[in-house]
Amino acid sequence: VTAEKAGFDHFMLKEIHEQPKAYRDTMLGRIADDGLSVNLKELSMLDDYIRSISKVHIVACGTAYHAGLVGKSVIESLARIPVETDVASEYRYRSPIITPDTLVIVVSQSGETADTLAALREARRNGAKVLAITNVVGSSVAREADDVLVTWAGPEIAVASTKAYSSQLIAFYLLGLNLARVLGTQEQQTVKELIAALHQLPEQVESILTQSAVLKQVAESMANHRSLFFIGRGVDYAVAQEGSLKLKEISYIHSEAYAAGELKHGTLALIEDGVPVIALVTQEGLYEKTLSNIKEVKARGAHVLAVTNAGFEHEVAQSVDEVFSIPKTLPLLTPALSVVPLQLLSYYASLALGHDVDKPRNLAKSVTVE
Ligand code: G6P
Repeated sequence: VTAEKAGFDHFMLKEIHEQPKAYRDTMLGRIADDGLSVNLKELSMLDDYIRSISKVHIVACGTAYHAGLVGKSVIESLARIPVETDVASEYRYRSPIITPDTLVIVVSQSGETADTLAALREARRNGAKVLAITNVVGSSVAREADDVLVTWAGPEIAVASTKAYSSQLIAFYLLGLNLARVLGTQEQQTVKELIAALHQLPEQVESILTQSAVLKQVAESMANHRSLFFIGRGVDYAVAQEGSLKLKEISYIHSEAYAAGELKHGTLALIEDGVPVIALVTQEGLYEKTLSNIKEVKARGAHVLAVTNAGFEHEVAQSVDEVFSIPKTLPLLTPALSVVPLQLLSYYASLALGHDVDKPRNLAKSVTVE
């Protein structure tokens, strides 16, 4: 068993460290050698079909749903197609408006989640095409979908998903660029910059991984608290939700993720002396807005850790207690980096509390009941 963990203490830590490879493998063969376009040749959908898509529904459960929240921003900003996101257990019961020009994207690491599979079937019954983003070739979801985009993260053993989530983000970036190519929604220069930045992500994750000692320290002090908060705006809010779920799953510490600007409409009442707040501040256009929300929680005594971009850390440092900086990338791509410190925080918090990191209580890796 130790051998399977390749020298790591837990599968989760091993899988966190496999992310650079998972990113490279998921991009492999899908980006043109000249770095100017993404062409997902494995998809059967024709350009005419892509041009006919009027809206996208992204449906998934758990961590995969959180990848879908980032996917919504990616598709809307790159392909300019409106996207709705749903948790699969809600989708069918709200009579969603599914038409033949709706592309339904289901996201599932295992490809076996019962609610996700049921959502897929409902979508197809209504004449929509279904694209599956999955980590398991030949899974039920992969077999029943019209098209499959495989995330090449490799087998994920730990119940808490890490490399599958981040590879789903890579799949969404590739899909967004593929749609943009067909629809002509992006300038060539923008595409070129995005692709160059995508290629840098694996090395950037590696550099984050070398800084895990700092996160271990922060996690150990967080572990003494009963409750904490994650805040962010835009894609930072999506990542905040994933960070919060990860922490709950394996450390059993209560946490909530909030859109930073929404805090003052209620949740701010829970901020008191010493409450840890993890603030994601990676979106250039929103720096000032999120900083002002950080000041609101600081004024109530919160202990704030900010995750921000290299280059902005000195400015953020003036308003927070601790700063973790991620390497510079484009705003849309920050989730593929900012989630890594949050995964490590959860891991070390769980470890500090003596929990079973890889097999948390009450949870299963794959949920095949509705
Ligand atoms: C379970 C797992 C989660 C996962 C969710 C969806 O709850 O514990 O980690 O995100 O199922 O799984 P899927 O295989 O569909 O991505």
